Amino acid sequence: MSTTAAPSAHRPIVDEPVPQPVRWGAPELARLTAMVQQPSLFYWKGPQTTALIEEFRRHYAFKYCYPCSSGTASLHIAVAALKLKPGDEVIVAPITDMGSVIGVLFQQGVPVFADLEPRTYNLDPADVRRKVTSRTRAIMAVHLAGNPCNTTALAAIAQEHGLALIEDCAQSWGARHQGQPIGLVGDFGCYSFNDFKHIACGDGGLVATNSEQLGPGLAKWGDKSYDRVAGGRAPEELAANYRMSEPQSAVAAAQLGKLTDIVARRNRAGELLTARLAGAPGLLLPTVAPGDFHSYWFYLLRIEPAKFTVSRNELAAAFNAEGVIAGPGYIPTTVYRYPVFQNHNFFGGAWPVRDLGLTTMDYRQVNCPVAEAIIADCITLRINEAMSDAYIEKVARAVQTVTRRLARA
Ligand SMILES: Cc1ncc(COP(=O)(O)O)c(C=O)c1O
Repeated sequence: MSTTAAPSAHRPIVDEPVPQPVRWGAPELARLTAMVQQPSLFYWKGPQTTALIEEFRRHYAFKYCYPCSSGTASLHIAVAALKLKPGDEVIVAPITDMGSVIGVLFQQGVPVFADLEPRTYNLDPADVRRKVTSRTRAIMAVHLAGNPCNTTALAAIAQEHGLALIEDCAQSWGARHQGQPIGLVGDFGCYSFNDFKHIACGDGGLVATNSEQLGPGLAKWGDKSYDRVAGGRAPEELAANYRMSEPQSAVAAAQLGKLTDIVARRNRAGELLTARLAGAPGLLLPTVAPGDFHSYWFYLLRIEPAKFTVSRNELAAAFNAEGVIAGPGYIPTTVYRYPVFQNHNFFGGAWPVRDLGLTTMDYRQVNCPVAEAIIADCITLRINEAMSDAYIEKVARAVQTVTRRLARA
């Protein structure tokens, strides 16, 4: 009778669970405890929302700040404040969250997708310039994954053509472009506190501007066009209720106290990963422009598929088998390929601006080749502030080992 030895269990190179940050604690509790003594949880002049604005200003030098219910809301408020005419165009990135474009569509604007830079995954200023038309009103710069956009170049285009620049900072808390916190170059900085972001309060957002023209009216765009400053109800515009509330503000204000530390740790982890992955066959690592600071909401790399014996998905699975938290791809498709765009199904199966002849946009014809390539060949690696150097070294060793094993000879 022959005996076969039981296969020995594979011990992954990353042989420990992914470190989990402790996200909430004494600072949040202190604010929430103070909050429950308050007679009201309404946001306007509420102590927690006031504290949130003060804490936010410690990081971002904005005169006008409006905390609101989500990042999507912050972007919608920014777009609404521009008072688009139906059919006006806003240039946007094709790899982003739906929240970037929702406000444009609700304001009867037309999202126009421009292509991305291959290694930062942010808007390519050259393609943005090509997409400007007589209908363009704004550029929305999405700082993807924590990496700052080239807002210097985008602001120059905006200025040249008299456009607004909206910065979608949802994924990039703490990132800096040429030494300056992102959000401050454009006309609006828009931020998200949703649960998955660097700092969070469940759901929340903040829109901010230094524009003397747009700033004073900002709050009305998130508060039914009610005038909380002068009092009274005489809505002059159609505006949603995107108000913040005191419980969310309490948590968000406390979270802002941790931002510098969280971002420093994530930046260290991301930069260490890049240093250790240098030279891995078939990997294209994210690049950060000289003078910029990446805050690594996640780590997005690309592969050169022809250099591997396996597919992108199999490569990501092989990373997983070595204990690396890796996902094949980021979002499933470019945003313009979502069914809602492909079917122009924005309002009950119709799209009034097109039906009325105010745009000829056909999203089935849109193609951003660089963005499509990124979607097809990218892999996301988890980064968080609890990851030690030793943990990142293990991740890098695992990725190096797998890529060398599966690279074509
Ligand atoms: C780039 C970007 N913009 C906007 C949003 C929308 O933020 P929220 O989920 O807070 O509405 C997100 C959220 O994931 C995002 O990643």
